Amino acid sequence: MLVLGVETSCDETGLALVRDGKLVCEVLASQTDMHAVFGGVVPEIASREHLRMLPLLLQDLLAKACASTPELGLTDIDAIAVARGPGLLGALLVGLSFAKGLCLGTGARLIGVNHLHAHLLAPGLEAELSTPALGLLVSGGHTHLYHMAASPDGPTRFRLLGRTLDDAAGEAFDKVAKLLNLPYPGGRYLDELAQGVEPDTRLFPRAYISNDNLDFSFSGLKTAVAEELGKRPHLTLAKMPTADELRAHGALALSRHGEELGLIAASFNWAVSETLRIKVERALDREPGVLGLVVAGGVAANSFVRKTMTSLAEQRRLALHLPGLALCTDNAAMIAHAGWQALRGGYAHGLDLESVPRGRAVPEDWAREAGFAAGETAAAHHPA
Ligand code: KG4
Ligand code: ZN
Repeated sequence: MLVLGVETSCDETGLALVRDGKLVCEVLASQTDMHAVFGGVVPEIASREHLRMLPLLLQDLLAKACASTPELGLTDIDAIAVARGPGLLGALLVGLSFAKGLCLGTGARLIGVNHLHAHLLAPGLEAELSTPALGLLVSGGHTHLYHMAASPDGPTRFRLLGRTLDDAAGEAFDKVAKLLNLPYPGGRYLDELAQGVEPDTRLFPRAYISNDNLDFSFSGLKTAVAEELGKRPHLTLAKMPTADELRAHGALALSRHGEELGLIAASFNWAVSETLRIKVERALDREPGVLGLVVAGGVAANSFVRKTMTSLAEQRRLALHLPGLALCTDNAAMIAHAGWQALRGGYAHGLDLESVPRGRAVPEDWAREAGFAAGETAAAHHPA
């Protein structure tokens, strides 16, 4: 089954082709440099840019696919998987309209995908997931902890165990970066500044751990960093560097106080990754039978988080699923892959599918094709 994935939930426009759960090829256009000067994603710019890029990217994608499969065309696509939320509503609507138009034109089936679940299923493109698993999603907009149970005949079942009550982990990174006058999204620069630096573990609190729940709160940590920086005003860069300048020279070269800046960054990275570890350990104690640990989303690219989760998985003898860096941030391969999981069990949406903005739960309102019984897969149903 050949599935086209469409991702437009925030500031990356992505298309990908996945055949029977395996990536064929993908294309991605990032808007981050356009939003950087505004200190966050500007929804209207994001929607317009998705609208401009989608048809161009589709041409690129098909040209790329033809390199390995000559003559491959739109009508070879069996289904279109589209990120339906959560995300920026205008941006999602552009992707959904594009997907519906293609379905109408080609007769392909349509499946709407939960963007958060797709992040956590993404490592399945690299290796089969060991489930039941704990899934930690740490991105710019979300910090969610799930219990994940694979189903042999359809989508993986997700049970939400905990979530952030205020800022997401990535948001905390971005806000601290902003305090230092680094461009948006600044998480990666804080990671870079902290490389090789020993953190001061007394400098910042591991926020919201003295309770017995599995939720997160990062706004207190951000305030603690703001207070510390208030005492060290020389650390904030006088002029915001561009992403190009940062790529060319590195974040450290742009400050005369690299050592002190490194200490703040390392201590902050440590506080975030330790907070995540404590809650994941707590969840493992409460959820017997878990075999795998999945960590996904943009903050899963963070070197402190990767190291902490790697040693936790080793200690607990869990299979660790930590996607490669390109699969951590937003992409369409993960959307196509998650869509394929549902489609192979006969699940699909109608053309009345709606997008779901941030803050609202994404319903599992797909319908199962007539003739699909429990335990029967699409391959068995359509032997061709
Ligand atoms: O999953 P993602 O690409 O987009 C969504 O939010 O859905 O995540 C983006 C987030 C941003 O907050 C960004 O600063 C953060 O991931 N991020 C990082 C790193 N790379 C990306 N945060 C910390 N360390 C990194 N290396
Ligand atoms: Zn995302």
